Amino acid sequence: MNLRVKLQPIAHRSYDIAIERGALAAFVKRIKTTSSDLFIITDSNVERLHGRRVHQLLFDAGVESMLLSFPAGEGSKNMRVVNALQTQLLRHGIRRDSLVIALGGGVVGDVAGFVASTILRGVQFIQLPTTLLSQVDSSVGGKVGVDHPLGKNLIGAFHQPAAVFIDPGFLITLPVREFRNGLAEVVKIAAALDRSLFAFLERNAGSLRKNNARLLTEVIKRSVRLKARVVERDEFDKDLRKTLNLGHTFGHALESALNFRIRHGEAVAIGLVAEAAIAVRLGLLLKRDFDRLVNVLKVLGLPTTIPSLTSRKKFFAALYADKKSSGGMVRFVLMSAIGSSMIGVEVPEVLIEEQLGVRLR
Ligand SMILES: NC(=O)c1ccc[n+]([C@@H]2O[C@H](COP(=O)([O-])OP(=O)(O)OC[C@H]3O[C@@H](n4cnc5c(N)ncnc54)[C@H](O)[C@@H]3O)[C@@H](O)[C@H]2O)c1
Ligand SMILES: [Zn+2]
Repeated sequence: MNLRVKLQPIAHRSYDIAIERGALAAFVKRIKTTSSDLFIITDSNVERLHGRRVHQLLFDAGVESMLLSFPAGEGSKNMRVVNALQTQLLRHGIRRDSLVIALGGGVVGDVAGFVASTILRGVQFIQLPTTLLSQVDSSVGGKVGVDHPLGKNLIGAFHQPAAVFIDPGFLITLPVREFRNGLAEVVKIAAALDRSLFAFLERNAGSLRKNNARLLTEVIKRSVRLKARVVERDEFDKDLRKTLNLGHTFGHALESALNFRIRHGEAVAIGLVAEAAIAVRLGLLLKRDFDRLVNVLKVLGLPTTIPSLTSRKKFFAALYADKKSSGGMVRFVLMSAIGSSMIGVEVPEVLIEEQLGVRLR
């Protein structure tokens, strides 16, 4: 006997992304129209800086919500924190029609989204990103999850948000290091996919570094538009979406090898350079384009050289544990020009070794 499970067309999973100063007010307006119980998940920093304010804004609008928080930082992106949040949500009577709000950076989005994807087999969630990194990248696309001792982001799910509200106003309190952290993901998106965005970054890097509000909103819009188009065409990371892993194969291994002592975006910046150097060595990328990449990262205040304390053993263990490797061979996404990249390029280990040993110029 053959049966077929006819799943719903995916149209009902489409969602809107609001990007503007004042998107927070649009969020409150939207929430006023829902009758769901509301659970805001945030971290300890964002709770203090914005969480209580958002909670109060909702309350003033006649909406009750519960604010839950966990200690800030990548160190909280694990199953222990997920489990603690699940326990709190269950104790407070979460139901299938409740709504989870992820208020914070990429860590909060990934953790709260994963909690939302698993609790009671999945409840809806809304992304309210507060770091530049989460506003340009992680809040869109539905990749949620946590780290595992064997590697980053190894446990997770695809669970698209019901909506995303991106308000650059949140960035006013963001420390400069976190701000640059987000710019690294913008460079990644541009280097992988869009040479005109890359040229825009080159033209405006100086002003962007100084947090020019108008330029920043423009950069967020352009980055999110590109990411959304990629996710539409390849939601489950089969081909096109892999291009957004540019700089990440090397970068993730570096983060693990350094015990997360550098920020994700810093690791991505270094990873972009190291992988571009490999691409040059393989004859895929012109040295001229490599130089443009290094230059824009430098002007944006991002690191471009590998810290010398890297443990090679841990680095390679993390590299092979990364979910993008298969059959003992590490496959990279490599740039073939500014704004173009190739997926699934097999790289000999000796070329990776070379990057760890050689100081890049
Ligand atoms: N799911 C995805 O598609 C995706 C994409 C890229 C990155 N990520 C993940 O995102 C994470 C990195 O995100 P992140 O850099 O936003 O880290 P984060 O969430 O840890 O935020 C960085 C720091 O900034 C603080 N912070 C947040 N908003 C603030 C604000 N408005 N003002 C002041 N401080 C604020 C946080 O408390 C934290 O200390 C990594 O775990 C990475 O793997 C996920
Ligand atoms: Zn990233």
